[in-house]
Amino acid sequence: MAHPLEQLRDEALREIESATDEQALETTRVKYLGRTGSISAWGEQMKTLPKEEKPVVGKLLNEVRNALTAAIETHTAQFRLQKESGVLAKIDISLPGTPHEIGSLHPLHQMHERGIQIFRRMGFALAEGPDLETEWYCFDALNTPPDHPARNEQDTFYLPDGRLLRTHTSTVQIRAMESAPPPLRVIAPGAAYRRDELDATHSPQFHQIEGLYVDEDVSIADLKGELEFFMRELFGSETEVQFRPHYFPFTEPSLEVYVRSKALKGGEQWIEVAGCGMVHPAVFEAVNKARGDKGYDPEKWSGYAFGLGMDRLAMILFEIPDIRLFAQNDLRFLKQFA
Ligand code: PHE
Repeated sequence: MAHPLEQLRDEALREIESATDEQALETTRVKYLGRTGSISAWGEQMKTLPKEEKPVVGKLLNEVRNALTAAIETHTAQFRLQKESGVLAKIDISLPGTPHEIGSLHPLHQMHERGIQIFRRMGFALAEGPDLETEWYCFDALNTPPDHPARNEQDTFYLPDGRLLRTHTSTVQIRAMESAPPPLRVIAPGAAYRRDELDATHSPQFHQIEGLYVDEDVSIADLKGELEFFMRELFGSETEVQFRPHYFPFTEPSLEVYVRSKALKGGEQWIEVAGCGMVHPAVFEAVNKARGDKGYDPEKWSGYAFGLGMDRLAMILFEIPDIRLFAQNDLRFLKQFA
């Protein structure tokens, strides 16, 4: 005759077999294997058995417990599989996938990277400053008189508290000199802002790479030679560079930089791409005042500075006809530079 445990096992297996969903299976599991289930009750009963029966019944109990656990696991797995394949059946694997578009760097960003790369080879380190500035960094320290038109509210974006959006990256010249003594050789890429009417060649936000080199005996020949080298690296060796006299309050003498190259579209035309000059002694003096030392003694140190118009350079290099394209986020435009 079968042992009552074996009868219990067969009964349980039948119940497991006939369970129609996971819920029913769980109820069965609790009924037999749960803490107060009948198999567990047998475990309790073991204690009352005569000594010689214990090993036999104990072994049987283990076998039954394992058999039921295995049956429940198999059955649960079957239910899960059924559920999954039900979901999968609704997926049409013959449909084309959704392509993930690969992005690319914005043309202006690419232009900055090229420019920075060239200057790094020439030994310039990166410097930076905030877009939101004080009048001191944007004008006062740069020897710009109180009545200079650039300070005008028609040209500059002022905040109610008197701060402003920097009108050029020359602010970083001052910040760099304030924080480090000469010799200094830095570039500062970044945005600048002016209240210009938006059209094909003007934008209220534009981009510059500022450059500053301060050392003993820096001359205008260094300035011209290095900017010429830069333009030729960028636009090709046949590029011609022209320097025309200009005025900036913070440089003396001051120059504007023009380029033309037969390799470029519309090649015969001179295009203005930068402002530059020799650092005005008054700028060194303003920095000394802020530093509280004679670190930038204009008798000992000289320097040059420049500000490159990066939007303009990118427009020339990539033959982009309209500055507004940089900010419109039109993928048909951006994809051309991927
Ligand atoms: N800050 C000037 C501008 O934005 C350019 C410049 C920079 C000129 C450095 C001289 C020296 O027009």
